Amino acid sequence: MKFFIDTANLEEIKRAKSLGMLDGVTTNPSLVSKESLSNQKEIERHYISICECLKNNENVSVEVISSNYNEMIQEGEKLSLLHSKIVVKIPMTINGIKAIQYFCKKQIRTNCTLIFSTGQALVAAKAGVSYVSPFVGRLDDISNDGLNLIREIKSIYDNYNFKTKILAASIRHPLHIIECAKIGVHAITSPINVIYSLLNHPLTNIGLDKFIRDFKSKIK
Ligand code: E4P
Repeated sequence: MKFFIDTANLEEIKRAKSLGMLDGVTTNPSLVSKESLSNQKEIERHYISICECLKNNENVSVEVISSNYNEMIQEGEKLSLLHSKIVVKIPMTINGIKAIQYFCKKQIRTNCTLIFSTGQALVAAKAGVSYVSPFVGRLDDISNDGLNLIREIKSIYDNYNFKTKILAASIRHPLHIIECAKIGVHAITSPINVIYSLLNHPLTNIGLDKFIRDFKSKIK
């Protein structure tokens, strides 16, 4: 399973990279707004720096701001020209689906974001999107079962051999990642703290303390 990091922060990306756990990056307009970037030129340079931080086979999802079809096309084409690692992130709207078909014909990779239902995931796959991003945590937040959506999308895509990859998004805790791995998604995108949480177990810490204490009590 691929581990993508859900951030626009270069330091976090470098930390994930140093852990050897980085297969890609996803950004969104809210994440970009947290960085100290004040104009479009700075934002574009920032996207390029993120891409340059990654290995060749990794990719970076960058979201369009426009909602109008022609503007989405213009913006997406511009983003895709910034760097070959950029995957254009398009919201699940009617214009978004049309834009995905356009980019698919031009062989520009896309990620359909804000997926909350199997119907949306089915339509996005039929439009030829490269990745779908179902938002697990935001469904859980409203008492729906986010992981069940992932299960259903996986089974539908398997039924028809859709090439679209499932990139489980809005990951909030380690169990989301474990369950996604059991379901067999292509990738998850997660904040770095959730990836670090996967490493933790209290028995590991207790066990390690005891090993070192036992050793030091006998061996000088
Ligand atoms: C990534 O593609 C999504 O934009 C992101 O995972 C959303 O996460 P959130 O629901 O925690 O904001």
